[in-house]
Amino acid sequence: MSAQGKSPPASQSAKVLVIHGPNLNLLGEREPEVYGRTTLADIDRDLHNLATELGLELETFQSNSEGALVDRIQGARNQIAMLIINPAAYTHTSVAIRDVILAIGVPCIEVHLSNVYKREPFRHHSTIADVAVGRIMGFGTDSYMIALRAAKSLITASAARADG
Ligand code: DQA
Repeated sequence: MSAQGKSPPASQSAKVLVIHGPNLNLLGEREPEVYGRTTLADIDRDLHNLATELGLELETFQSNSEGALVDRIQGARNQIAMLIINPAAYTHTSVAIRDVILAIGVPCIEVHLSNVYKREPFRHHSTIADVAVGRIMGFGTDSYMIALRAAKSLITASAARADG
């Protein structure tokens, strides 16, 4: 069964893991005309505030290394209800990130700050698009906040189904 087909476990305070890929640690100074001036620390702070408001537990993780991202996602196996991931440049190349999403069997939401379809053709391909529940892009830092609200809705719907 694909990750898309699995439901998040019903839980009172479900945990969501947000993964940021390579070069996102430079947000704020990196190509501000594309990615804006907000730093990754600002995004993580806003995500934590929104998670508290939504009654979710949240962890965030950033790495520039594909292996470290795979290790962190593997480490979340059986721990999280939902994965939100901006694989950054690895979106376009990484079979390993696609495979680990399928391996842990947790529903995943793909996020991008920019609308990749308005950019270079090599950014149009995503190795995880077809294993994600959905994709949110083009809203800058709001893409993450929209994704967290979508995660909450999916978790709530799943819990309601589990309750019968
Ligand atoms: C990105 C888009 C990718 O193409 C790029 O490599 C990034 C950021 C985004 O959030 O818009 O690093 O994932």
